[in-house]
Amino acid sequence: MSFKDSAKRAEVKSEERRKCPDNGDHHHDEKFIRESVNLLLFFLRIMKEHAIFLRLGFPCNRTDLINEAREFEQRFDELLTIVRSLERPTRSQVRELDEEALALTEEFIEFKTRVLNMILRCQLGGFNFPLFVDHIRREAMEFVRLLRALLSGVEIPEAEQIAREEAFWSRIMAEHSKFIQHLIDPAEGQFVETARRFAREFDEIWVEALDLLSMTQSRIIVPVQARFTADTIRATRDLRDFKEELRDLIADCRVLSLIPELLADHVLREAEHFLMLLRKHCKRTDCEPFLADRFPPKTIGEPRRNQ
Ligand SMILES: [Fe+2]
Ligand SMILES: [Fe+2]
Repeated sequence: MSFKDSAKRAEVKSEERRKCPDNGDHHHDEKFIRESVNLLLFFLRIMKEHAIFLRLGFPCNRTDLINEAREFEQRFDELLTIVRSLERPTRSQVRELDEEALALTEEFIEFKTRVLNMILRCQLGGFNFPLFVDHIRREAMEFVRLLRALLSGVEIPEAEQIAREEAFWSRIMAEHSKFIQHLIDPAEGQFVETARRFAREFDEIWVEALDLLSMTQSRIIVPVQARFTADTIRATRDLRDFKEELRDLIADCRVLSLIPELLADHVLREAEHFLMLLRKHCKRTDCEPFLADRFPPKTIGEPRRNQ
């Protein structure tokens, strides 16, 4: 199937969706339930852990903030437990949970904003980097954006979804690498250097994604998207492997660092989530040929033989 064909098919599909808004049909219900549950399972756990990380980073005399963070941790945990225990959820049940998650996450965003503003004004010490608080606030905002889209029933156009997700998560991947770089013991020279290389690579990928967003205004999927997606998959696989190795070393107490095992596992899960999204993008853009060995990245820019 050519790129034009698939673009045309997607156009027709989204046109059909516009004409047939949610009328409660079975297929639509199932999709809504599946997407909601997957989103909640992933992000509620992430939010709960953000509360833990914030709490661990607060100075020990700020018991007010520590308690507030603990409360968020409990509330996200309660919601997560409910979602995990669902067996055959109905649409209205899931809708209610989406709404609860939305309200709680919005409250959490306010808390993160308050904390960040205190840090920026030097009214709060501790060990939460300002960029870290900004980073976890952006993740919460992404959760809210996706929940709102689900609840409103308005499909985000595919081109926009792909471009925005790649820009959003590649920035997140760059920042994870920066956090790792700064939280590993300075004595671990090689680890620090590897993390620094990943940070630079993902900074580049992020800027490329932003430039492409600017060019297309995220309205159309252009042919180069397939190659960008493939490059991003390759880089993200490497970063995922690095994070997995680091997580295992931390678990076995075989690396010098300030990184809690839970944080190492958290950033690994986020890389896996990004890879899952990228695989979906790859199917849509037909990026497979650019992933194959016969097209390694080093040949880019060199004349190809037999042409
Ligand atoms: Fe996170
Ligand atoms: Fe993150």
